[in-house]
Amino acid sequence: MRTTVNQIRQMKEDSEKIVMLTAYDYSTARIIDKMGIPLILVGDSLGMVVLGYETTIPVTMDDMLHHTRAVVKGTEQAMVIGDMPFMTYHVSVEDAMRNAARFIQEAGAQAVKLEGGVTVAEKVRRVVESGIPVMGHIGLTPQSVNVLGGHRVQGRTSEAAVSLLEDARALEDAGVFAVVLESVPAPLASLITERIGVPTIGIGAGPRCDGQVQIINDLLGSFTDFVPRHAKQYAKLAEIMSAAIGEYYSEVRDGTFPTKKQSFSMDEGLLAELRAK
Ligand code: KIV
Repeated sequence: MRTTVNQIRQMKEDSEKIVMLTAYDYSTARIIDKMGIPLILVGDSLGMVVLGYETTIPVTMDDMLHHTRAVVKGTEQAMVIGDMPFMTYHVSVEDAMRNAARFIQEAGAQAVKLEGGVTVAEKVRRVVESGIPVMGHIGLTPQSVNVLGGHRVQGRTSEAAVSLLEDARALEDAGVFAVVLESVPAPLASLITERIGVPTIGIGAGPRCDGQVQIINDLLGSFTDFVPRHAKQYAKLAEIMSAAIGEYYSEVRDGTFPTKKQSFSMDEGLLAELRAK
């Protein structure tokens, strides 16, 4: 049985911290799922860490559905949340509903996430009314990076802080089951967490959110272009991978790989016959 939205809401009630991680492929999703992590986000961050784009903006519905399907296949207990890419919910309520439904029907996700507050609240309401759980995302919203002027901390002026609180309330009213707070000063994230009834999931938003999310490649140290300030590397996978690939490279070049162990034998008589031909 997969994690439900009611269980996530209950975790806030019980002051039980909520753990969320991103995943983009079957093998990684399987490992995360087996660890009992309740929420897996197929983030459009895959544009940067999997597809090598500079931002999340070029990511398409087809990219997202492809990776979401793989993550769903690798999981049994986690709720899989598909991240709606740029311009798939901005133009109309109908677009938002149709594209949200594709995550559920075509990829098997249990929920979707979309970026924005007051401006997307009506779309969130209609998607939720159609039976699809929605996670909100406010603060630094990477799909708006060109308007925000870069990947900057949000809500630092009193006007911006008030507007973030309004965004959080609008999303709660619209029916989200949780809200991601990205790159928001820790005291403001703490205040928003106190003021709304749905769980907040922080990334660069301090320790007082109801839960935390990290990008799996940052956590494992496998994405080396840059390490965001909000990330903690729990491993240095890139170094482990380089060492292993280097060893393979040398062994192929000096003929020590493969050995008998990685090879397959055949009947000697058959071989002699072949040689005689
Ligand atoms: O795309 C993503 O991975 C995200 C997280 C940073 C929350 O939106």
